[in-house]
Amino acid sequence: MSRIFLVAEDLEKIYINGDDRVHALRSASLKLNKGEAVSIFGPSGSGKSTFLHLLGAFDRPTSGKVFFDGKDVFEMDDSELAEFRNREIGFVFQFHHLLPEFSALENVALPLLIAKIPRTEAFERANAVLVEVGLADRTDFLPVKLSGGEKQRVAVARALVHNPRLVLADEPTGNLDLETEREVMGVFTDLNDKLKVTFVIVSHNPIIKRFTDRQYNLIDGKM
Ligand SMILES: Nc1ncnc2c1ncn2[C@@H]1O[C@H](COP(=O)(O)OP(=O)(O)OP(=O)(O)O)[C@@H](O)[C@H]1O
Ligand SMILES: [Mg+2]
Repeated sequence: MSRIFLVAEDLEKIYINGDDRVHALRSASLKLNKGEAVSIFGPSGSGKSTFLHLLGAFDRPTSGKVFFDGKDVFEMDDSELAEFRNREIGFVFQFHHLLPEFSALENVALPLLIAKIPRTEAFERANAVLVEVGLADRTDFLPVKLSGGEKQRVAVARALVHNPRLVLADEPTGNLDLETEREVMGVFTDLNDKLKVTFVIVSHNPIIKRFTDRQYNLIDGKM
């Protein structure tokens, strides 16, 4: 039996900077069962990253709610929210955000070290996830020595290392060639099948549709 795992209800976001107001998200809703993978498409500026940031509790909505496994996420205070995010969410950013002075292994281990997991265990787990995404022989490389697809796979490994129940990916294959893109999507599909992780993937690329159970369009802040 499938059950509802994630609900976004009429999310609205207005960014206010001084006198400027940007109505980035007007009304975005979504319902996901556990283990589902969905993709969200839409033109540049339509609110996709904003929506994903709200789902991942990086930011609070102007109005609307998110329920995670039945829990009203934005009822939490900021420190509870940060703790929730670190435990439950894996985020692959639109631009991979790897730290240039750290190796692939260190980049992946970082979320565990921040969560105060002992170093040996953190590095063992990071290594295992890098093996999983096909980078066993690249663990000591600095990001600058990795190809675009390899960097994205490190970013995926980093998002998965703490076994989150929800993975949010913002254009994970944004600037990759076709072959590398298939590779990265293959990693997601595998993990989705094997671990029943729930995925929300934002993209411009119609090829992603093949890899997800359902597709949404976000246009002008409306889902
Ligand atoms: N921090 C912010 N302050 C003010 N406006 C913002 C902020 N972040 C995003 N916006 C605006 O909100 C709108 C939606 O932005 P968002 O990044 O969600 O779009 P997107 O769909 O992810 O676009 P892209 O496909 O180009 O990544 C845009 O008009 C953007 O300029
Ligand atoms: Mg974006």
